[in-house]
Amino acid sequence: MHPHQIEPMHQHLEGESVVTRVENPMSLERGPDWSNRLVLAPLTNQQSHVDGSLHEDELQWLRTRAAGGFGMVLTCAAHVSRGGQGFPGQLAVWSDRFLPGLARLATVLREQGTPSAVQLHHGGMRARPELSGVPPIAPWDDPSRGVRAMTTDEIHCLIDDFASAARRVERAGFAGVEVHGAHGYLLCQFLDARRNNRTDGYGGTFDNRSRVIFEVLEAVRAATGPSFQVGVRLSPERYGITISESRLLAEEVMTSGLVDYLDMSLWDVSKRPHGDDSGSMALSTRSGPTLSARVGPSRPLPVRV
Ligand SMILES: Cc1cc2nc3c(=O)[nH]c(=O)nc-3n(C[C@H](O)[C@H](O)[C@H](O)COP(=O)(O)O)c2cc1C
Repeated sequence: MHPHQIEPMHQHLEGESVVTRVENPMSLERGPDWSNRLVLAPLTNQQSHVDGSLHEDELQWLRTRAAGGFGMVLTCAAHVSRGGQGFPGQLAVWSDRFLPGLARLATVLREQGTPSAVQLHHGGMRARPELSGVPPIAPWDDPSRGVRAMTTDEIHCLIDDFASAARRVERAGFAGVEVHGAHGYLLCQFLDARRNNRTDGYGGTFDNRSRVIFEVLEAVRAATGPSFQVGVRLSPERYGITISESRLLAEEVMTSGLVDYLDMSLWDVSKRPHGDDSGSMALSTRSGPTLSARVGPSRPLPVRV
């Protein structure tokens, strides 16, 4: 369906109803405007070469999406460290050796008139050693799965890997990156209140469990130019995350000045939350659909998760 055929969506904010037409352009704090409010979600397509370099099939699939009129096109999750690979045929951004393919992809997407961004990912305990040859790491040990707890130095290296990947993506010519902090992958694993009991400042309390996300965002900002567009994707629940903590994290991310948009991965916007604190749930079956994801801090909307 073309954006112009889509009905307006209604935002219900503290009792007010604001009509937001999906075909309206959207300005963010930094980077190019989005020509409409339809964003191609990051979709793992497993179309890259075995070594992580861009394949023609992946290029053509994304080119067609960009030509179709999306206001922004996000790539699949692309791994920032060799050992972060989670899928066969995953696009890689962990070395300059991938720059030629990334530059070609950025150029082809830009030629369609659509800004594009690369989603930055590390699989953590869900990474696949049989693909990367690297044993998986995570915030905590899990010998039953062959997973080793990261050292503090390795956390600092991880932050550097996200920053280097973002700089590489910018050099390739993309408008920005989205940091993948959702779906139980490595950054999301740090948020796990049940299992991340690290004592080095990266586990235990909410502030410590969420620290790595802010340090990654700060490092990405420091490594890239002032008009580079940076977003972050979070999961509102599951993976050891409670609704109340994810609301707090969303608020802190939105007010940090570090991101241009927050992408809450909801899967089903009308579902009831499961977990411990459903009474505090703002997103619900209340009066109609809510446009809750991908809002920029230049528009300080309450975050509804
Ligand atoms: C085949 C497939 C691949 C996906 N790959 C990714 C991915 O690489 N990164 C990501 O953050 N989400 C991925 N997702 C989740 C989607 O981006 C999206 O969040 C999901 O389809 C639900 O849409 P919603 O989050 O807008 O509710 C994938 C989903 C599917 C079905």
